Amino acid sequence: MSAIVIEEVGIDGIDPVMAVMNGAFDPGYGEAWTEAQLLSMMTMPGTWLSLARIGDSPAGFALNRLIADEAELLLLAVAPESRRQGVAMALIERSLQLLRFRNGTRLHLEVRHNNPAIELYKKAGFIPIGRRPGYYRGKDGQVHDALTLSCPA
Ligand SMILES: CC(C)(COP(=O)(O)OP(=O)(O)OC[C@H]1O[C@@H](n2cnc3c(N)ncnc32)[C@H](O)[C@@H]1OP(=O)(O)O)[C@@H](O)C(=O)NCCC(=O)NCCS
Repeated sequence: MSAIVIEEVGIDGIDPVMAVMNGAFDPGYGEAWTEAQLLSMMTMPGTWLSLARIGDSPAGFALNRLIADEAELLLLAVAPESRRQGVAMALIERSLQLLRFRNGTRLHLEVRHNNPAIELYKKAGFIPIGRRPGYYRGKDGQVHDALTLSCPA
């Protein structure tokens, strides 16, 4: 099997990232970003986008933003066919590594309270530090709480 290779990308990486985005998120929750939203965030200072590939195929991506000495993992997604091979864990490790490189101290994220990704985040060293009631609204109008998780860099 090919190794997981991760690199930071700019606008040149939008097509493979959007390919992963459009296949990864459950449409029922409306959590996928549009290309316009992604491009807009990438113009913000302190933002970086990491793309993971397995062989020639885009496998996953992570979008981070550093403000002062703390960062937020804004998006993390892995293509369905590339899951349970360590891609997301490798992307989180890369986010923490780049955060340390930029003298950051903590990585935060928000995740829907019933997203199985919480197991991944706990395994990666994140701990729950808060809960935001009704933070997400699904396509069906149902609201879901967000958990705020945090990990030292
Ligand atoms: C959540 C997601 C990013 C995981 O990606 P992945 O590459 O399959 O994760 P990894 O292979 O790195 O998983 C590492 C460990 O995390 C845990 N884990 C990962 N996905 C899990 C799941 N769906 N349920 C329970 N535990 C999970 C497991 O302990 C796993 O180790 P194991 O495979 O040896 O059991 C992927 O399922 C995804 O893109 N989901 C849709 C988008 C999303 O919800 N993103 C997160 C919120 S923004």
